[in-house]
Amino acid sequence: MPVRLAGGDIPVPLGKVDPEGATRRSTGVPELDRVLGGGLVPGSVTLLGGEPGMGKSTLVLQTLIAMCERGARALLVTAEESKDQVRLRASRLGPVPPSLFVVGETALPTVLAQLDELEPHVVAIDSIQTIVDPDLPGVAGSVGQVRDCAARLVRMAKERDVTVLIVGHVTKDGSLAGPRVLEHVVDTVLAFEGDRHHALRMVHALKHRFGSTQELGLFEMTGRGLEGVSDPSALFLADRRPCSPGSVVAPVLEGARPLLVEVQALVASTNAPMPRRSAQGLDGSRLSLLLAVLEQRTHLEQFSGLDVWASVAGGVRVGEAAADLAASLAVASARLEKPVPAGTVAVGEIGLGGELRQVGQLGRRLAEASRLGFDTALVPASAPDIEGIRVVRVPDLAAAMAAVGLGPEGSGDG
Ligand code: TYD
Ligand code: MG
Repeated sequence: MPVRLAGGDIPVPLGKVDPEGATRRSTGVPELDRVLGGGLVPGSVTLLGGEPGMGKSTLVLQTLIAMCERGARALLVTAEESKDQVRLRASRLGPVPPSLFVVGETALPTVLAQLDELEPHVVAIDSIQTIVDPDLPGVAGSVGQVRDCAARLVRMAKERDVTVLIVGHVTKDGSLAGPRVLEHVVDTVLAFEGDRHHALRMVHALKHRFGSTQELGLFEMTGRGLEGVSDPSALFLADRRPCSPGSVVAPVLEGARPLLVEVQALVASTNAPMPRRSAQGLDGSRLSLLLAVLEQRTHLEQFSGLDVWASVAGGVRVGEAAADLAASLAVASARLEKPVPAGTVAVGEIGLGGELRQVGQLGRRLAEASRLGFDTALVPASAPDIEGIRVVRVPDLAAAMAAVGLGPEGSGDG
């Protein structure tokens, strides 16, 4: 018999704990489910952080609507906008389910009391910076208020098994009181990112107690709310100019999903004593390393006196070393002002010796490349044959350059 020792929770054999207890429920928003590893876990607290205007309120409203359509009762606490504004936004998104409730309230104790009556399955707070506990010192949005209100919401979620979504604003430098101080309190932190001037929105998990933080959710902001991007590779390659120098396509993995991205580079001479090295969507120190390898292990001469810009088109961030080969070839192609053949993708990690190293899940990457019409793939020497695409095995960066017409013969560069 379990003995209640000093009060509190009772120890039980782990095997007796219901594994369904942490089962996630699909939100009904597929791209959000992807990031969450299937859905939201009842009793969990998820923070959705992002700059103002990104579409956080829209995503939260869409999620609540979708959850209501799957039988949930939901409460949206709108501390930031009026109920009328929320209603107006909802009417752009489609029919409003009868089980979606809204309250314009900023006092947390009042909200918590209302939960007793409504007993919703899911509660969303928009935003944590505008909600206050009048019993605590500090104004709304202060570090203390934000942290303590969030902690009370977490306690409430666990006690009642309610799913909680919290919206939090961050400024460009992430300095505002909010997500940073909340990260430890909540179960999941989602970052909502994108360029204000482009429709593409990306959601990824910075922290996720119930699964991986590898997955990327992709949305497009449309006139009728956020729509999941069904074919991201096609979207990222849509504006590509295949025959221009400095453009190479890499099949990368974003979590479980293969994605084709265009790595671009530009090389320009400069009189500055410290030439610029700029990496967007790529790791800056990785770019420096690849430049050193290009200098030391290929026929290219030194990059001193040359600015180098490298970026991943479309605003995606590539953390994978599998993009090394594409990035290096893009820089070499830009430097030599010669394009890489349009139907070619390149994949492989580059070592300090210039050697090409194997990457995981080559088959899935190249299947995606083949699906989008690419016919040739530059791959590390140890790669197996892949159906549907011609693989060109290259041992190192110099060989890869030669294979796409960037070799020493006739290039005029060293
Ligand atoms: P919003 O969700 O209010 O952003 P946040 O809560 O992060 O501040 O929405 C941001 C922008 O999205 C806003 O400028 C209007 C636009 N928008 C659309 O383009 N289509 C839509 O259907 C909706 C609801 C908003
Ligand atoms: Mg908002």
